[in-house]
Amino acid sequence: MPSISPAILVTGGTGYIGSHACVELLAAGYAIHVLDNLCNSRRSVQGRIERIAGKAITLHEGDIRDRAFLKDLFAVRRFDAVVHFAGLKAVGESVEKPELYFDNNVRGSGMLLAAMQEAGVRRMVFSSSATVYGETNTPPFTEDAATGPVNPYGQNKLAVEQMLADHARRHEDWRVALLRYFNPVGAHESGLIGEDPNGIPNNLMPYVSLVAAGRLKELSVFGNDFETADGTGVRDYVHVADLAAGHVAALNALDRLPPVRIFNLGTGRGYSVLDVVKEFERASGRAVPYRIAPRRPGDVAVSYADAARAARELDWRAGRGLATMCRDAWRWQQWRAAQPAEL
Ligand code: NAD
Ligand code: UD1
Repeated sequence: MPSISPAILVTGGTGYIGSHACVELLAAGYAIHVLDNLCNSRRSVQGRIERIAGKAITLHEGDIRDRAFLKDLFAVRRFDAVVHFAGLKAVGESVEKPELYFDNNVRGSGMLLAAMQEAGVRRMVFSSSATVYGETNTPPFTEDAATGPVNPYGQNKLAVEQMLADHARRHEDWRVALLRYFNPVGAHESGLIGEDPNGIPNNLMPYVSLVAAGRLKELSVFGNDFETADGTGVRDYVHVADLAAGHVAALNALDRLPPVRIFNLGTGRGYSVLDVVKEFERASGRAVPYRIAPRRPGDVAVSYADAARAARELDWRAGRGLATMCRDAWRWQQWRAAQPAEL
């Protein structure tokens, strides 16, 4: 009798990180059901995931806050686990619309958790962020570093972490991995999936891509008077394909981990804004003009992970370097630019 692949529900699976995770999960032999309301992604991502993986996935279009939809979905089949990416992630917007962010990110995760409990699904991998760490820590940040998010988005992440942890500790057989991503960048090496922000991006790598492509005039470097080697901010950029593989590693390890376990996912090394600019120029063969601008409020000088726990307990390491991150971001940028805008 053929064995049946364990089925994973991937919320937010047509989004940037979720789509890469689907590719890795399919390669690892899981059957994939995606739940997404497409508020920040496109239906066409499904076909591109399937093309890369050579396998089909099922897309369920709906919202994690829709109780009736969740009930029907969990009745479709018995999911082995949920990998939960669905959420809103724009820090500035979260300051403007804290109630929207709380509703979508915190209440939505609560609804999902309740539906899982009711359906008897007890395993979750959750997308958290290094943004939960407080500003008083000295890098590298370990998982035990003090938390103290400074904006509603970060507060949402910490609230969901706490809700999941409280739930898992009170209910038998639950297993939760809380993955704190550092700075995800790059794209699948095929160039078929990647980050597809609406409008002008806020984050460094997508902005640099558009400058290299000649679609934005120049990069504003937010401050060159930080206490770093070249004065610009230092971050732990991690290739999205490595990050995606981290989800498979966490999922596979859940049963041998304590009920709740936090993991930093980063490379453990930092690069400055100007390092990224130089590497992107090399990878693309294009100039990336920039000017020095004032610091962006809320930015810390240096952030990078202590990623030893993930190496030790998940046997996961982010192997791809900055050159590969820039090469793949550029390949994606070129593929995307050649498609119609409404793709
Ligand atoms: P993304 O916006 O590309 O993907 C999120 C997906 O969730 C989208 O496809 C969106 O349509 C969907 N979604 C949002 N709200 C939903 C809802 N209520 N119901 C159903 N679907 C919904 O973002 P991403 O960069 O892939 O991030 C994925 C997760 O990782 C998010 O939770 C984000 O906060 C977290 N994260 C991202 C980063 C980053 O730099 N990209 C860093 C740390 C953590
Ligand atoms: C930002 C979010 C963080 C989120 C992360 C996801 C803020 C304050 N923080 O982190 O919550 O988890 O994205 O990846 O928004 N930079 C420029 N010019 C630009 C854009 C960025 O100089 O046009 C600099 C920044 O000052 C920083 C570095 O580039 O030093 C990286 O910035 P970014 O990509 O926005 O990530 P973070 O600020 O680390």
